[in-house]
Amino acid sequence: MKNIVILISGRGSNMQAIVEANIPAARIAAVLSNRPDAAGLAWAAERGIATAVVDHKQFASREAFDAQLAQVIDGYQPDLVVLAGFMRILTADFTRRYEGRMLNIHPSLLPAFPGLHTHARALEMGCKVAGCTVHFVTAELDHGPIVAQGVVTLQDDDTPDSVAARVLQLEHQLYPAAVRRFVAGELQIVDGKVASPAQPAASLLAPAP
Ligand code: GAR
Repeated sequence: MKNIVILISGRGSNMQAIVEANIPAARIAAVLSNRPDAAGLAWAAERGIATAVVDHKQFASREAFDAQLAQVIDGYQPDLVVLAGFMRILTADFTRRYEGRMLNIHPSLLPAFPGLHTHARALEMGCKVAGCTVHFVTAELDHGPIVAQGVVTLQDDDTPDSVAARVLQLEHQLYPAAVRRFVAGELQIVDGKVASPAQPAASLLAPAP
């Protein structure tokens, strides 16, 4: 059985998708948040999942916050740490500690559009597709070996919200599938890239816009 600790900052819909996927040989050991009011915490607690808050506002530095967060995470002896809408920039010490066992989902086709406001920036640039990326976390923000990507086609009348809604549906398919592959031992990092058998293209699973 692999222990999974999920970190959220808000709604937690990706966390919910991972919990509801009932991944074989995996146990959601805890859901943690840096925000006491994160809606996903109540959802997890209602299902009997351990929850905890490490409020970043209570810490004087990023280093102090990350050190406390790591201590709480390690209390659950995680095999995998899953960042699911966890909106904090992490220190290099923290990312090194969980190297090769921490995943993130980002709402763009990395390496395009790291950071915030990804869909607005894609529309602004006249991109014809947008999407999301599951990747291993490294010290560089929104970089690291790519596990899976999902693609949606952009339409002339799209808004950041309409794109976000379509991409989120893909996220909810892509992330549980990636976690499942990690737990099954299928994700090997070779020369900084994830070497894995070909997967069906997530875009084929996308609902029509
Ligand atoms: C998701 O769209 C996720 O890709 C994004 O935040 C949202 C969280 O939604 N993550 C980032 O922007 C990280 N840089 P959720 O709380 O409902 O899962």
